[in-house]
Amino acid sequence: MGMREDLERIRSEALEAIAAAATEQELEPVRIHYSGKKGALTAILKTMGKLSAEERPVMGQLANEVRAQIETALSERFEVLREEALNAKLKAEALDVTMPGRVPHPGTIHPLTSTIADVRKVFESMGFQTVEGPEVEETYYNFDALNTNEDHPARDPQDTFYITDDVVLRTQTSSVQIRQMQGKKPPIRVIAPGRVYRNDDLDATHSPLFHQIEGLMIDKGVRMSDLKGYLEVFAQSIFGAETRVRFRPHHFPFTEPSAEMDVSCFACGGEGCRLCKGEGWIEILGCGMVHPNVLRACGIDPEEYSGFAFGMGVERIAMLRYKINEIRNFYDNDLRFLSQFNG
Ligand code: DAH
Repeated sequence: MGMREDLERIRSEALEAIAAAATEQELEPVRIHYSGKKGALTAILKTMGKLSAEERPVMGQLANEVRAQIETALSERFEVLREEALNAKLKAEALDVTMPGRVPHPGTIHPLTSTIADVRKVFESMGFQTVEGPEVEETYYNFDALNTNEDHPARDPQDTFYITDDVVLRTQTSSVQIRQMQGKKPPIRVIAPGRVYRNDDLDATHSPLFHQIEGLMIDKGVRMSDLKGYLEVFAQSIFGAETRVRFRPHHFPFTEPSAEMDVSCFACGGEGCRLCKGEGWIEILGCGMVHPNVLRACGIDPEEYSGFAFGMGVERIAMLRYKINEIRNFYDNDLRFLSQFNG
């Protein structure tokens, strides 16, 4: 076969192979095969020496033409394939900016937690320190040291969860008063939030587990007027600046005198409404002057020191503030309830 035929065959084969390559990866071996240093064209050109003097320039020109044509076809095809690859990649990685984003679901603060935090803030601003005590408590701290004798009805197993004869689930945060006073020299100003337990059936307003916040202030010369002043500031901070307070005589074993504090109804301002059951006042907490027997039980001389204490139910305050009429809502962890509280 003559050189012309060889060149023509290479030309048509090469152009066909170039057109058929579907990717840059497929085209590269085609390039090597036809226009590489050890390729088909180079092999033919090496045989030029065997041609006659007349044929040589003619074949030389044809060979150059074929080489130029193949190289142009190669670079054009490379260009096309590179662009196709890029377009495919862009399409595959396309970002749909109209697609709705993923909505984050940040949690909210539980209404009991935020109520405790708000009460803490008020008392901490008045120099009270927040402390805690154990929930599994000795009867000594829960009852005896709080001047609550053996026959007191609160000690009945119908009301109190006993672990042993002298260990209970604390029924009140008042036990923390004793732990704070024991072995400490006044002045003492603490509040103690935490869980308490009572042998109650669960209903709309009672739960065997609930929360209290205890307060205690012991110093020289602390009087009932101090108690009233501090608790009035508390009530106005939590229920609104218009809030009035009143104290009704009551009995607690660990305080003398003892009182219950009411706040003027923040829903009706005192006129009487459903929230205050027509009373105009809402009971909020128990309080009093720490009983001398309690001070003595803690090694504090009642002749030298006096003080006040108070205790409130957190659920009750949260239910009033947020107009919740079912205590079980606090413990059910139903997001439809919890997500309503944003602070
Ligand atoms: N511990 C009482 C209760 O659970 C509440 C209470 C009343 C606490 C008077 C006090 C207080 O510190 O002085 O009902």
